[in-house]
Amino acid sequence: MYSFLYRHVLCHVDAEKAHRFGVVAFARLPFVFRVGRSLGIIPNPGPAAAREVMGLRFPGAVGLAAGMDKNAEAVLGLAAGGFAFVEIGTVTARPQPGNPKPRSWRELDVHGLRNQMGFNNEGADAVARRLARLRASARGRAVLVGVNIGKTKVTAPEDAATDYAYSARTLAAYADYLVVNVSSPNTPGLRDLQSVDALRPILEHVRAAANEAVPERHVPLLVKIAPDLADEDVDAVTDLALELHLDGIVATNTTISHDRGPGGLSGPPVRERAQAVVGRIAARASGRLAIVGVGGISSEDDAKAFLDAGADLLQLYTAFVYEGPRWVAKLNQTLGKLSGKSGTR
Ligand SMILES: Cc1cc2nc3c(=O)[nH]c(=O)nc-3n(C[C@H](O)[C@H](O)[C@H](O)COP(=O)(O)O)c2cc1C
Repeated sequence: MYSFLYRHVLCHVDAEKAHRFGVVAFARLPFVFRVGRSLGIIPNPGPAAAREVMGLRFPGAVGLAAGMDKNAEAVLGLAAGGFAFVEIGTVTARPQPGNPKPRSWRELDVHGLRNQMGFNNEGADAVARRLARLRASARGRAVLVGVNIGKTKVTAPEDAATDYAYSARTLAAYADYLVVNVSSPNTPGLRDLQSVDALRPILEHVRAAANEAVPERHVPLLVKIAPDLADEDVDAVTDLALELHLDGIVATNTTISHDRGPGGLSGPPVRERAQAVVGRIAARASGRLAIVGVGGISSEDDAKAFLDAGADLLQLYTAFVYEGPRWVAKLNQTLGKLSGKSGTR
């Protein structure tokens, strides 16, 4: 049904409007997805799909990647719709409108998306208030929520650490884990923060801010990197993550290695490199970092290949847009049945 709706309706609507329609549907109608679950129309992953990673129990391996629910509006619906966990954001310290429209395009020939959104979001304070409301209910507390934070556009690079720390301090209490995003291509200079010298103070400040805000709990901290990093830069970030005792790495964001126009490309064209980056981190970290594999996963075989390369968890965005919630729920169920693996971290 979803693929019919996508091909015949959503696909003909401006990509950003279709996205907004989707978020509103998940935000307003979570009970529809819950009913779908209880009737078995949306498959339940079952206990075999669960895995323990970073001291958290994930009900399945496959979660929603950052960028779709930037302001944490639709967490309950997205979780009921099939995702084992939901990463909200990217949230910046201050609210910002993002880049001028149009800023999101479908790349139908490769089942991809291209975007230059530029972190349009309501800012850390507003998102914190929404997450507080979510966490006030038992159902809202039960969903595993990652919070992805980024730099406010107008903040100068030399003030980046303070800017990230503000978001971490404001949002940590509501986050099952935090992700420092230094890899989106649509904020000028952001990806330069992936260099070890720039990244170190950001990660140190964010860790300290999260500890200070939530002294009673260790909030796992990850960094999200770009597929366009050279191998030696992937190694350098991995070494820094190990040195600073980070909990993990999210690999990868969208790629700018394409000639389709402005913005970052997602979906199948990213897959090969994203999987290689996952493999590289896994080989270097040998179990000391959790790896969230993301980039072009659009089939069961892709998902298995990322897990075989060393990913502990998976995320997707683009395939969800093309295939819909039922497909994601089925993927979580199938991976659970296949692996029977419960994870070690
Ligand atoms: C429209 C769009 C917006 C995105 N926004 C963000 C974002 O705000 N923060 C982020 O870390 N990643 C963002 N991403 C990247 C995704 O989280 C993911 O890393 C990337 O799309 C690769 O996964 P996929 O091929 O399954 O889509 C965005 C992706 C898309 C398509």
